Amino acid sequence: MTARPAEPGSAAGVSTAEPVIVAALGEIPLGEGRAYAVGDAMVAVFRLRDGSVRAVSAVCPHRGGPLADGQIDRSVVLCPLHLNAFDLTTGCSLSGQPDLTVYPVAVDDQDRVVVSPPVLSPPVPSPVPSPGD
Ligand code: FES
Repeated sequence: MTARPAEPGSAAGVSTAEPVIVAALGEIPLGEGRAYAVGDAMVAVFRLRDGSVRAVSAVCPHRGGPLADGQIDRSVVLCPLHLNAFDLTTGCSLSGQPDLTVYPVAVDDQDRVVVSPPVLSPPVPSPVPSPGD
């Protein structure tokens, strides 16, 4: 299955839980990102200068900025709206914002970028209150 490039104002995408081919690798210039609809999510795919790729949620958790348009430096992206920083490998905010969702991404043997559904962490059990709490 092939995803379509994100269109301005469009959040709809293909509905799938399977890996999705989002683009030919050459469509993403080195050092830049592009946004794609994957399932119900918008995913920003970045091609780092070392040739590796990363994929994270495309919408900045601060105020919805377009992270695929952000500047990247090694494995950090700066949101273009207010410059909050996010690690592209872990999704962790480096500036106090909620973290991004990280999507497994790979380049297949035909130089196509393949994004998989995110690996969700199991819920952390809440502590059981003891009698007397
Ligand atoms: S919207 Fe991204 S930093 Fe504000």
